[in-house]
Amino acid sequence: MKITPVIIAAGQGTRMRSNLPKVLHPILGRTLVEYAVGNAKIVSDTPPVVVIGNGADEVRQRITTEVQFVVQEQRLGTAHAVQQAETHLRGNTDLVLVVYGDMPLVRPKTLQLLVDAQLINPGPMTMLTVEMDDPHGFGRVVRDENGAVKGIVEEVQATPDELAIRELNAGMYCFSSDWLWDALPRIELSPKGEYYLTDLAGIAAADGKQIETIKLDDPDELIGINTRVHLAEATAIMQRRINTELMESGVTIVDPASTYIESGVLVGPDTVIWPNTYLQGNTQVGEACILGPNSVIRDSKIGDRCEIFSSVVESAVLEDKVDVGPYGHLRKGAHLAEGVHMGNYGEVKNSYLGPGTKMGHFSYLGDATIGPNVNIGAGTITCNYDGSQKHPTKIGADVFIGSDSMLVAPLNIQDGARTGAGSVVTKDVPADTLVVGIPARAIRKLKKDQSKD
Ligand code: UD1
Ligand code: CA
Repeated sequence: MKITPVIIAAGQGTRMRSNLPKVLHPILGRTLVEYAVGNAKIVSDTPPVVVIGNGADEVRQRITTEVQFVVQEQRLGTAHAVQQAETHLRGNTDLVLVVYGDMPLVRPKTLQLLVDAQLINPGPMTMLTVEMDDPHGFGRVVRDENGAVKGIVEEVQATPDELAIRELNAGMYCFSSDWLWDALPRIELSPKGEYYLTDLAGIAAADGKQIETIKLDDPDELIGINTRVHLAEATAIMQRRINTELMESGVTIVDPASTYIESGVLVGPDTVIWPNTYLQGNTQVGEACILGPNSVIRDSKIGDRCEIFSSVVESAVLEDKVDVGPYGHLRKGAHLAEGVHMGNYGEVKNSYLGPGTKMGHFSYLGDATIGPNVNIGAGTITCNYDGSQKHPTKIGADVFIGSDSMLVAPLNIQDGARTGAGSVVTKDVPADTLVVGIPARAIRKLKKDQSKD
């Protein structure tokens, strides 16, 4: 049996009141359409057909996995959207699994249930329904006196009696492919000027065909995003899901409601995460770390037993036992080796700090390679940019950089050297040498033990 998912994601999302196509709004780091594609890929090996239209180019760019795009030039409704996939799929697949691109909370196992039910349904259609007190603008499922589905009525067209129905159309269906393509042209234009996919239920029922339904217990899964209010609701649910899974795996999250962790982020056991902390993108955190409060960690790899307090860490690597903050900013390419201490108000970009190196207060290191056990005095700055080009700074092992040193790159400070407080170092410093002043000059050679703090 070949099952092909069709994701319809061409709609404008008028109710979002946004310039961004609705399906490109993100929830914890992933866009709505990416959730739909990810789910489809779990349920079927056949690449999904994604129907795009509004903001087609942007949507195309956002999806990096293998899919087939079909453009719906005019938005004439959900049935018309599905119809665009006909030329790709007629005669090419046994079942068609239709999912709307605006339902990010659906679990793959729910889609699997739908497919499994259609596999044994003698009729042409299985649909997912849910009972909810807040009908969220969903279509109502109308049944006859025997309980068989008679049709689906959209909220805008429902009578007061129909509006009172609490069984709602979740917006996911599995169809027999041959029947689907024959039935779609039979749908009539609605008074709103759209072809509703939901009319297929009425068509099947009128033909005396069996419509299977699966009722879901967890209505959370089926929240469709039509407004920004729905977007916030879905974000809170996704946040709870991700945080719960992490807590169950041994992570302490002090206040889950104020901790925002994106799906796909890995966190090791016994790590404690304090409130107002954000773990984003391709981030991996080791064991027994203390993160936050008030920290943002994005696209970074954090080792074991690290502490990050009120800091921002972007595209950086921290080995084990590194501590940062408060008010540290690690930027792209910062790599802090084991045991590095980076205290108040430090910034590091595109630099390697060797094991045990300390940078306690108010410093900037950019394009620098720094050896082990170096002391970076308060206020040290690598002057790495001359107004047109960036230049590297290299500092050897066991170097002592005095407070307020300006290190004018390109510069090479060799092992065991020392700079005096307030020096402006413009020339390379040989090993075990003390330089002072502006511009800094060597005043004496150090005995081995003097170079250490
Ligand atoms: C739809 C269902 C409703 C169901 C609800 C569940 C119809 C007519 N109604 O309503 O019964 O309860 O979902 O969430 O199907 N789209 C296109 N092209 C179009 C129109 C829509 O691709 O021409 C896409 C949209 O991008 C969106 C999806 O179809 O991803 C659903 O459209 P939307 O307008 O949100 O439908 P609802 O009003 O929510
Ligand atoms: Ca919707």
